[in-house]
Amino acid sequence: MTDSVPVLRVRDLVKEYGEGDARVRALRGVSLDVHRGDYVAIMGASGSGKSTLMNILGCLDIPTSGTYLIDGADVGLLDERQLAILRNRRVGFVFQSFNLIPRMSALANVELPLVYGGVGQAERRARALAALDQVGLTDRVHHEPNQLSGGQQQRVAVARALVTAPALLLADEPTGNLDTASTGDVLRILDRLSEEGRTIVLITHEDDVASHAKRVIRLVDGEVVEDRRQAPVDGPPPRLLEAAG
Ligand SMILES: Nc1ncnc2c1ncn2[C@@H]1O[C@H](COP(=O)(O)OP(=O)(O)OP(=O)(O)O)[C@@H](O)[C@H]1O
Ligand SMILES: [Mg+2]
Repeated sequence: MTDSVPVLRVRDLVKEYGEGDARVRALRGVSLDVHRGDYVAIMGASGSGKSTLMNILGCLDIPTSGTYLIDGADVGLLDERQLAILRNRRVGFVFQSFNLIPRMSALANVELPLVYGGVGQAERRARALAALDQVGLTDRVHHEPNQLSGGQQQRVAVARALVTAPALLLADEPTGNLDTASTGDVLRILDRLSEEGRTIVLITHEDDVASHAKRVIRLVDGEVVEDRRQAPVDGPPPRLLEAAG
């Protein structure tokens, strides 16, 4: 796989729900490419189609028309089994509501995608522990979700999303249920993953969260109305002294 193949290539994606008078056009011809290492924030008002787009990008839903390639593979041409494999190996998800399995330890939750992926037990354990270490939770691996704070649960969810080394990390409002401190923790982890070269697409309502991304895509009524690169957050500070002198 060369770098010239984008992780995501989306062309003229249309998604309609319902029929007749009840028909809703949630996406009206969305096209975009996301290259390896990009960090994209998708913004837009409630109902603008963000989750619809994310669900299609994550192979959880299929478009009404248009094409979608992930790592060069045309998702529309895959059967159910191939789709399940793609979802498991190429895409990591983080949801607003964490979606951890209750009464299973953090470690077991993080191991789960590897169980589905057929990875043996010893390797599973080692990889899950490494992923939990990456999110700073080595001292909580045997805790169950209800014994963890919201921020810690979301960090477990990030570890679970990463443990398969996916080509793409998708996050739908990952900080939507978190307080300021936990939001900061999760964003720092995403920033670090981005610096390490991960490809990240996240949905957010908040400008503060979007400011961490390298690129912002704005949806209005199922259409891309803005797609722009941002200056790095921690870029060089303004040269105040020179200006003053
Ligand atoms: N399963 C569904 N059946 C019918 N209409 C749907 C369905 N899911 C979403 N819609 C409609 O599609 C449009 C886009 O919804 P979507 O969930 O993608 O919005 P969103 O941008 O994620 O909003 P929010 O910020 O509130 O999460 C909305 O008008 C919504 O009512
Ligand atoms: Mg949504």
